[in-house]
Amino acid sequence: MLLIHNTSQVIQLTAEPQRGAELGTLNILPHGAVLIDGEHILAVGEPAELLLAHPEADLLDAGGKAVLPGLVDPHTHLVWAGDRLDEFEMRLQGKSYLEIMSAGGGIAATLQATRAASFEELLAQTRERAHIAFAHGSTTLEAKTGYGLDIETELRQLEVILKLDEEGPLELIPTYLGAHAIPPEFAGNAEGYTDFLCNEALPAVQAWWQEHAPARQLPFVDVFCEEAVFDLAQTRRILLRAQELGFPLKLHADEFANLGGAGLAAELGAISADHLVKTSAEDIHKLAESNTVAVSLPGTPFGLAQSEYTPAREIIAAGGLLALATDLNPGTSWNESMQFIQALACRYLKLTPAEALAASTINAAAALGIAERLGSLTPGKQANLIILKVPDYRMLSYRYGTNLVSTVIKKGVVYPLS
Ligand code: NIG
Ligand code: FE
Repeated sequence: MLLIHNTSQVIQLTAEPQRGAELGTLNILPHGAVLIDGEHILAVGEPAELLLAHPEADLLDAGGKAVLPGLVDPHTHLVWAGDRLDEFEMRLQGKSYLEIMSAGGGIAATLQATRAASFEELLAQTRERAHIAFAHGSTTLEAKTGYGLDIETELRQLEVILKLDEEGPLELIPTYLGAHAIPPEFAGNAEGYTDFLCNEALPAVQAWWQEHAPARQLPFVDVFCEEAVFDLAQTRRILLRAQELGFPLKLHADEFANLGGAGLAAELGAISADHLVKTSAEDIHKLAESNTVAVSLPGTPFGLAQSEYTPAREIIAAGGLLALATDLNPGTSWNESMQFIQALACRYLKLTPAEALAASTINAAAALGIAERLGSLTPGKQANLIILKVPDYRMLSYRYGTNLVSTVIKKGVVYPLS
């Protein structure tokens, strides 16, 4: 038993995801305490009362600082090899992301490096980023494949995700993103690659999963629905095939162009539709009427120095479920910190610090279908918490570029940061 006491504030949030105007409901208990039993939260309440009821509990002094649920990052491309520094400089000189991609750079460059990396190399490079994310307060993080595109390398990426999840303490939720780009073998033949995904790759991933991780839910299947990548008809075909094989769905939609991906995600009951920069008012309403979570990735327009961001206030006004994520990847947003994402969301999405925090915890958990298990300080949920270096949670959005987390607790185990 562990009692966290001497806090400035305990931010409980709500057990359920927060829709529309509910977003930002924090349920702050000033100077509260949190009682942890093994891997789970047993109670949140007044320190004196909890101590009286459980005098045997070990004590953890929060130093008069804020205590929050662990942050959840529901969209990352964690597993890759190498970097794209040259491309970064090309972009600074005026080349656009899609131009570089069409000229054979971009995702294709990371694909070559990732295919060439051994399992051990890929594991080591990915582990480094996982540790950085954890040290910045993320206790659960989604991780996509998508830099192999052939079956062998994609499975190697899935293996890296499973291995790092097993190592812990950061929990990883896997997504198969074989539909991230058209690989060189299928250059100019998106239709042929779509056939390959539906007929060969998806069944192969399903079979591999049943052999290697039979106790776990199948990974999510995601598609990059975008101009010069997968059009709406191809996206629909891949998602329907995935659904038929039992995979839950996610979708990259409306990052650079509006192809109608957000509406499709809602129609097919995807757990989330992500990016949503060019989303139409009609698709915002389709999302709001569904249980599909709208995941905004403000690190991406920021990383590309673009001025257009997710119409988050419209999504909230329509009654949608809004979450935030890093999009951590080597091309558009190499950033492991959900703290920085909250700072961006307040400035460019016009969220309040409370909304940004709810979108990074309980709603981010909903974007992974795990809000019943984590994302708030609710008795019975997994004991994932962070202790800040500061007494007020709003500092997470107000300040940026430094790490304001002092201690991370995952499944009841305390990891002090230096
Ligand atoms: O989410 N949109 C597609 N994928 C990434 C970029 C990946 C890359 O450039 O390597 C994104 O922005
Ligand atoms: Fe992405």
